[in-house]
Parts: sequence; C-alpha cells; structure tokens
Amino acid sequence: MAICRLSPYLRKSIWRHWYQFLARSYRRKEWSFINYGYASLDPQTEKLQLDDADEPNRYCIQLYHHVASVVDLKDLQVLEVGSGRGGGAYYIKCFLGPKKVVGVDFSRRAVAFCNKSYPLVEGLSFVAGDAELLPFKDNSFDVVVNVESSHCYGSMSAFLMQVKRVLQEGGYFLYADFRDKDEIDILRRELRHSGMTLIKEMNITTNVIEAMKLDNERKTALIQEAVHKMLLGPFQEFAGVIGSMMYEGFRTGEVIYSSFVLQKPNHQ
Ligand SMILES: C[S@@+](CC[C@H](N)C(=O)[O-])C[C@H]1O[C@@H](n2cnc3c(N)ncnc32)[C@H](O)[C@@H]1O
Repeated sequence: MAICRLSPYLRKSIWRHWYQFLARSYRRKEWSFINYGYASLDPQTEKLQLDDADEPNRYCIQLYHHVASVVDLKDLQVLEVGSGRGGGAYYIKCFLGPKKVVGVDFSRRAVAFCNKSYPLVEGLSFVAGDAELLPFKDNSFDVVVNVESSHCYGSMSAFLMQVKRVLQEGGYFLYADFRDKDEIDILRRELRHSGMTLIKEMNITTNVIEAMKLDNERKTALIQEAVHKMLLGPFQEFAGVIGSMMYEGFRTGEVIYSSFVLQKPNHQ
C-alpha cells in the first residue's frame, strides 16, 4: 500500500485525520466495524451463531472471533487497541465472556461515537489514547487485542513495548493485520524482539479475500447509499471492494494478512 511507504510521522498523521473525518461524517450506528473480514474455507467449520442484528457484520465479526477466541477470555480484563467504531470490543464483551473490555483509539471522535453507541453495556468502555503511549498502568490487562490497526502506527516497536508493559505476566497479545509482502519479515522480527513469546502465526490472506468477496455486495451498496459521489473511489479503495488496489494486492500476494498469538513471559 502506497501510504505505508510514507514517513512514519506523516503516515500516522494522515490516518488520524482520516479516522477523525470518518467518525465526524458517518454516524450510522450500524456501521460498527472497519475491517476486511474473515471467512473460513473449511466447509466443516461450524457457523458462528449471531443475532439477526449482527448478521450484516458477520465477516467483520468472524475476524474478531478468529483473533480473540484463541484464548478463553472468561472473567479476564481485555484491552483493545485501535477499537474504531466499537463493534469488535462489543462482540468480545458480550459474546466471549470477559469481565471488562476497554477500547482505546487515537480518534477522539471515534471514541465519542462508541461511548454514545454502547452506553449501557456494563464492563465496556472506550477511551482516547495512542497505541504508542497507552494511557494505562503497567500489568493492568490479561489480554491485549489488536485488529487491522497497526499498519497506521508510526512505530511498531513502540507499540509492542506498550503492549508488553500493560500486560500482566503470562498475558496474551492477540493480533491481526496486513503488510506488503516485503515488510512481513520486518514485522516478524519486531514481534520476536518484543520481549513476548511468539506462539502462533497464521497467514489468513485467503480467508480475508473470501470474506471480501462474500461481503462485496453489502459494502458496495452501503458506500453507494452513504457516500458523496466525489468520494466513491477513495471509499471503495478503503473498503477493499472487488477490483480495488487493496483487493488486488491480497489476490496477487503483494499484500499479506496475518494473525499472531504472543504471550508475555512470567518473571521477566
Ligand atoms: C481499520 S480501523 C480498525 C478498527 C477496528 N479494529 C475494526 O476492526 O473494526 C483502524 C483503527 O485504528 C485506529 N488507530 C490508528 N492508529 C492508531 C494509534 N496510533 N493509536 C490508537 N488507535 C489508532 C484508527 O483510529 C482506527 O479506528
């Protein structure tokens, strides 16, 4: 992705303005996710049971389920970094059983949107903050979740230091994002040097492409309905509709989508 090649500072600033713009301009509550989704390619996989109201967001939810259901979250304290429009944190809180979920995002407007959208869910809250300087005490969470957000950060290493700092010993970092194929080794190196143990890595690009195909009609219709025609192109690109550069990047193997499980060691 071209924006990934900009200087870290500029890239971060562009993303911040973009997400502030999205939260200011598009306030539909039902638009509660911003990710490319996940679909199983195994016909034996049991279909995730969802409420009717959540069905339109099935693929986005399935990405969260893929990332966050690796660990039993029952009664744990979870932090989601880059919580966007809040749908993922809400899914984790209401369906995966943790005691508490805090979503943090650097778009203050997105945080305000979330606090307005989910005011009555006990144990779910959203705060403004930067992934590279998390506003939480050391050792304050059992699990940190991060979905399709880290490509926006100025420094992945700074983010990983923060994840390790806020995690309890033995806590998990459950993570998914995409990178250009020539940057995936850099990401692996950053993860290995994070002081956390890399337990699992999965290339889920084909699952993401499948979700993009299955969700294409819904996303295209939503964009047509909600977006001014001058902005159709950028939105189709951002949403990764079929034929977009993002979709083609995944399809041709130029961009790789991966998920990872890391654990903070005990007694460090
Ligand atoms: C593609 S969206 C993903 C949102 C959500 N995780 C989801 O899957 O629906 C990326 C999110 O990361 C947030 N973000 C980007 N850079 C950030 C940073 N440095 N600190 C905190 N949040 C950040 C953006 O504001 C945006 O909400």
